[in-house]
Amino acid sequence: MSLFRRKSLESLLAQAADSDKGLKRTLTAWSLIALGIGAIIGAGLFVRTAAAAGGHAGPAVTLSFIIAAVGCAFAGLCYAEFASMIPIAGSAYTYAYTTMGELIAWIIGWALILEYALGAATVSIAWSEYFNRLFDGAVPYEWCHSPFSHELINGTLHHGIMNAPALLILLVLSLLLIRGTQQSAWVNAIIVFIKVTIVLVFIVIGWKFINGANHTPYFIPADQAPAKLADGSEYSYAPTFNHGFLGVLRGAAIVFFAFIGFDAVSTAAQEAKNPKRDMPIGILGSLVICTVLYILFSYVLTGVAPFTEFMLAGREASVAYAIQHHMEGYNWLATAVTVAILAGFSSVILVMLLGQSRVFYSMSNDGLLPGAFSQLHSKFRTPFKSNWILFLFVGAIATLLPGDITGDLTSIGTLFAFVLVSAGVWIMRVKQPNVPRPFRTPLVPVVSTLGILVCMAMIVSLDKTTQLTALAWMIIGLVIYFSYSRSRSKHKGPGEILPKASDFD
Ligand code: ALA
Repeated sequence: MSLFRRKSLESLLAQAADSDKGLKRTLTAWSLIALGIGAIIGAGLFVRTAAAAGGHAGPAVTLSFIIAAVGCAFAGLCYAEFASMIPIAGSAYTYAYTTMGELIAWIIGWALILEYALGAATVSIAWSEYFNRLFDGAVPYEWCHSPFSHELINGTLHHGIMNAPALLILLVLSLLLIRGTQQSAWVNAIIVFIKVTIVLVFIVIGWKFINGANHTPYFIPADQAPAKLADGSEYSYAPTFNHGFLGVLRGAAIVFFAFIGFDAVSTAAQEAKNPKRDMPIGILGSLVICTVLYILFSYVLTGVAPFTEFMLAGREASVAYAIQHHMEGYNWLATAVTVAILAGFSSVILVMLLGQSRVFYSMSNDGLLPGAFSQLHSKFRTPFKSNWILFLFVGAIATLLPGDITGDLTSIGTLFAFVLVSAGVWIMRVKQPNVPRPFRTPLVPVVSTLGILVCMAMIVSLDKTTQLTALAWMIIGLVIYFSYSRSRSKHKGPGEILPKASDFD
């Protein structure tokens, strides 16, 4: 058996066409863009921006957004080529299986768990922060923080026990997903509207409160005085990735989280009405809209509040904090923003959970994961068992780990998947130049090489613990592949499955 056996496109397309038994085709180009924005604008913007500015990039976090956007744009163009070429559920996992073989597909699928499952956990943790701010800290510190978090409140050091609100929102959204994608996409569209509106309102009103002094110096200087932290200790800006341009690069890897999700559009290919035309529109359209909003938003946020405050009081629910403390007369806006953000986070979690269950669905259909992950509900036709298993997994992580750790792991897993997808497009152009590609990534191999380089630079800039944890995760994945999945794969032959023109008729 070959590690590089590939999956037949014919079998893939037949599987997709068999919509009586499979997933329903209900999504249009607009619903895909809405799905993208629903997955994109979330904790990355409303929580991680402050973390990146406060700890690493300062006001130059706007540059971090540009670097992250460039990496995403290159990778997004590559995703769009694959998504139009192989319009099947499962995202990068399926592209790799059809083109680069089972082992690489498994590796990408395993990295995508970091992206979607840990991404959902990170956003649910952020949801819990804003939820608690809405109710003026009604949930005691212990019950809305992980056991690894501690904070000095009125002279007493409090330790987290579990993050209960995070678990609650995950439960509600898992139940919604089990009811069906169509309803979920509809709810998502309304939330996207609210979310974009609130970002625009914050930009317009906040603009008046920008204090030029907060933007100078633009880069954090190496001799910046340490910032105070919530547990009473100090945070030094001296380390290499905590100031200057390298700080901006680390900031890019952190706010990269804010872009994650445009690729989730591709996981819904099997539910799109016209995937060949609509997938590139969905992926690139949502990416462009969000990039513009992010640059403006981060410029306003770092102009309204000094970045060092985001290490202390403004760390959690940073946008509400900035409005309450620096935008006099706009307390009502803090509440409105918080409500909108809670709705916005919910749509992100929804798409992340949806994306993850669809990747599991494909991996399970291929025999690489147990059958429970692809079993559909007799009435709702959703992979309900997968949703429940996912709820338990994501719920455990969200309850027990802090958002910084899960956020950085999400970024690194996604960046790694992007590197492989960018490389994949190039490899396929060389090996299979004649395969029909309804959407072609421009300037290959320049775009794919730049995609690899920018994403690798962000991976390298992340901290050692994140890098080693991600490595350990990938090793566990390989052990599972070689001890379980490989022998159970439903694709036994070397395969030869590339798309022919007739496949697209
Ligand atoms: N991009 C998504 C967010 O920022 C994951 O929440």
